[in-house]
Order: sequence, then C-alpha cells, then structure tokens
Amino acid sequence: MVITRTREELYKTLEEFSKRKGKLALVPTMGNLHDGHLSLIKLAKQKASKIITTIFVNPLQFGKNEDFKKYPRTEKMDIEKLKKEQCDILFIPRNSEEVFSKLEKIKTFDTGNLGSDLCGKIRPGHFDGVLTVVNRLFELISPDLAIFGAKDYQQQILIKNMAKSLHPQISLLKAPIIRSKNGVALSSRNNYLSEKELDIAANLFKCLQNSVHSYMKKKELSEILDNANAFLISKKLIPDYFELRDTELNHISKDNFEGNKVFLGSVTINNTRLIDNIEF
Ligand code: PAJ
Repeated sequence: MVITRTREELYKTLEEFSKRKGKLALVPTMGNLHDGHLSLIKLAKQKASKIITTIFVNPLQFGKNEDFKKYPRTEKMDIEKLKKEQCDILFIPRNSEEVFSKLEKIKTFDTGNLGSDLCGKIRPGHFDGVLTVVNRLFELISPDLAIFGAKDYQQQILIKNMAKSLHPQISLLKAPIIRSKNGVALSSRNNYLSEKELDIAANLFKCLQNSVHSYMKKKELSEILDNANAFLISKKLIPDYFELRDTELNHISKDNFEGNKVFLGSVTINNTRLIDNIEF
C-alpha cells in the first residue's frame, strides 16, 4: 500500500495508478477503522481494481462543543488493517492544508432543508462540513466510484444529491450496516461507551426492529412512534429523534404508504449520540 501524506504525493501516486487498467474506488473515512469501514473496502474490491482509502478527521464537520479533539486517532492500527485488506493507496493528510489549500478558497455548501433536519437539527452545520470535505476529496482524487455506509443514512443521501449535480461521473454505492453481536451498529464513537452502556445501546436496534414489525402488522404509525419513544426512554436511551421516512428522507404522512421506507433513530447515552436505521 502506498501511503501519501501530502497533496503532491497523492497526485503523483494517482498518476502512477492511472496507467494501470481498471476502476478506482474511493472509501473516505475518519479513521479508527472497524469492521464497518473494512466492509466498505471489501465491497470496493468487488467493484473496482484499485482502492484508495482516506483518513482525515475533518474539523469542518464538528461543532464547537463536539468531540473533534478527543475523536479516536489510531493511525498505526488503521494502516495495519488497510494493508491486510490490500488497499492500494492511503491518503492520510499531514494537516488540513493538504486537503483545503487556503481556508478562504474552500467551496462551501449549504445543505438546505434536509441538511438541517434529523441529525442536522442536533448538529447545525455538520452536513455542510461533510459535503465540503467529500466534494474536496472527489475533486482531488476523481475516483470512478465512491462507497458510503448506510449507517449514516442522511449523510449518504446528501452526498448522493451533491454528487448528482457536481460529480455525475462518479458512481456512488451504499454499503449495508455492520453490527456487533448484540445488534449495535459499529461506530468509532462506541469506544466512548462501557460494556454495560453498549448492552443498553442495543435497545436502539431492537426498537427499530420492533417498529418495522409493527408497521408490517399495519399498526398505526403515531402509535408505533409513541411506543418507540417510550421504549427508548424506559431503557435510559434519550431519543433525539425516531422517525419513519421514505428512502429519500421525505416525510410520510399516510399509514398506507407503499414504497420503500426507513425507520431512523438517534439516541444519547452518557453524552454519546448513537444513530441507526432500518430500511425496508
Ligand atoms: P466515518 O464515521 O469514519 O465513516 C466512514 C464511512 O464508514 C462512512 O461512509 C460510514 O457510513 C461508514 N460506516 C461507519 N460505520 C459503519 C457500519 N457500522 N456499517 C457500515 N458502514 C459504516 O462518515 C464519515 O467518517 C465522515 O463523515 C466522512 C464521510 C469520511 C467525511 O468526513
């Protein structure tokens, strides 16, 4: 695996790789890699012959009181895992300037109504920061395809919408959610939780499963949502939101909506916010 830390090194490596046949797949991450991230790389390997992973804890997507400073950084371990997955290129910029040349020149994004809904309501400006960095990575790397996890459902939709207009030549793939044995969706932020808290966190997935089951049994949506919120609170998970949307995250008002849907939930446990969803 070629490790690049500056834009110059990245460009040089990409130029070398452009001589090789086949497609280039990009897997953007913030590091502290777990099996969820690695599943994206495995999927990338099925779809492309050259894989580039990026590890960059993007300051623009963290709010003032959020965990930018304490976000887990585990570079050595990450590099070992990527080598094992036979990733071809790693871009792990040595500082923010290698990604955003001059702060005043950054192309910024307004993610509109959807960007300030659901997670965006709780984290104002978060998705603007995500789109800014993903757009920049697309510009720097020009991959043929890029892979994002369904765990961050809203992020994946906003990136898809952005790419449709600005990078129509890049195909986007959505990778399924990888969970631990007890059902908790893997996340770098699970590191902040104790074993006991992780057991409690499993109730978010349980709640999503129960809600899907009830919806299939034609229970009324308002009752399902009330039950879900009450269940989460009873388990000491503070709900930030628990909702049913269509797969583009539009509101669903009718109980007889026929298309594909997604239940999405966000809860806080001991100051750590966890998100999860089930599409059905
Ligand atoms: P990060 O949280 O490191 O996640 C990187 C990618 O891994 C995202 O596409 C995310 O959806 C996916 N992922 C995380 N946990 C997963 C799981 N349990 N199952 C499947 N996929 C999972 O998301 C980000 O970083 C950043 O916002 C980024 C897109 C890199 C922009 O900075």
